[in-house]
Amino acid sequence: MAIGFDFRDRTVVVIGGTSGINRGIAEAFAADGAKVAVASRSQDKVDDTVAALTEQGAARAMGTAFDVRDAEAVAAGLAGIHDALGDFDVLISGAAGNFPALTSEMSVNAFRTVIEIDLVGTVHVMKASYPFLKRPGASIINISAPQAYLPYEGQAHVCAAKAGVDQITRTLSLEWGGEGIRVNSVVPGFIDGTEGAKRLAPTEEIRQEILSGVPLGRMGVPQDVANMCLFLGSDMASYVSGCVINVDGAVYQRGSGHLGQKMGDMLRAMTASR
Ligand code: COA
Ligand code: NAP
Repeated sequence: MAIGFDFRDRTVVVIGGTSGINRGIAEAFAADGAKVAVASRSQDKVDDTVAALTEQGAARAMGTAFDVRDAEAVAAGLAGIHDALGDFDVLISGAAGNFPALTSEMSVNAFRTVIEIDLVGTVHVMKASYPFLKRPGASIINISAPQAYLPYEGQAHVCAAKAGVDQITRTLSLEWGGEGIRVNSVVPGFIDGTEGAKRLAPTEEIRQEILSGVPLGRMGVPQDVANMCLFLGSDMASYVSGCVINVDGAVYQRGSGHLGQKMGDMLRAMTASR
């Protein structure tokens, strides 16, 4: 569905924008005429995405490779984007890592890895972008997850990290609001076909289980999340800040109990069979 926002002359930066949901977001802004930059670890994924953004209609498209865990690399990468495209009108921070693992079975380094990508990585991106944000008018969108407020077995690392991301959103909406910078989180539900969904629903049986619990009766697609980001990035959302917004087909209203338990049972069975 074409929404018809106009992002010509706007600079949109999507961190972790080279696959899945975040790439869908980057492509949506490109289709509405923005100058779009993406970043992630893999130069090949960056190059492939930049080609697609140009094809989608981006006024300009560029990308750079860095790991969000490396503060200096993030700062250098964002400075390069700013040199090329100017002040950031929209910044989307969505780089993340996830794998299902029971806390008792997970090394401390495994836990730390997700915290460092999702949470500390977000801090690196926020701090490095700060000097480059359009004032007034910039819109920051952090990509969160239902784990931020629903506990799922096998997801303690992600639950802790994404809860932190949402608190960064709320805090920065206070600290930076006076400069005309808006900060919001978007919480995707289960977005079909993505890496995150594949990791949490590794079998068709679990996927069907998840689907049966979505009140709107279908899985999400990247465009669903992109539509919310287009709105939040536009002037129509100029009085919206400090919000954590679900784009999840109302699945939050069901809570996490059954699915969380199913995932825990699956992981315990895997542990027992080793
Ligand atoms: N279960 C338990 N521990 C796991 C694991 C799993 N499935 N996968 C990785 N780990 C552990 C590793 O064993 C390692 O711990 P150790 O040093 O104690 O052995 C630690 O996590 C880091 O793993 P490593 O492979 O070195 O990390 P990386 O930096 O190369 O990759 C990940 C980061 C693990 C998050 C990787 O899955 C990734 O790159 N993910 C990005 C894509 C993604 O997750 N998409 C979904 C987003 S929702
Ligand atoms: P994905 O395709 O794996 O996307 C993750 C992106 O982040 C990729 O571009 C990846 O590229 C990049 N990335 C990962 N680690 C990085 C690092 N250390 N430094 C820099 N970039 C890194 O996953 P997805 O499922 O679409 O998820 C996207 C976002 O939505 C995540 O924030 C996730 O938590 C959230 N989310 C997803 C779902 C879902 O159903 N999929 C549900 C709720 C929330 P490289 O590999 O090149 O680094």
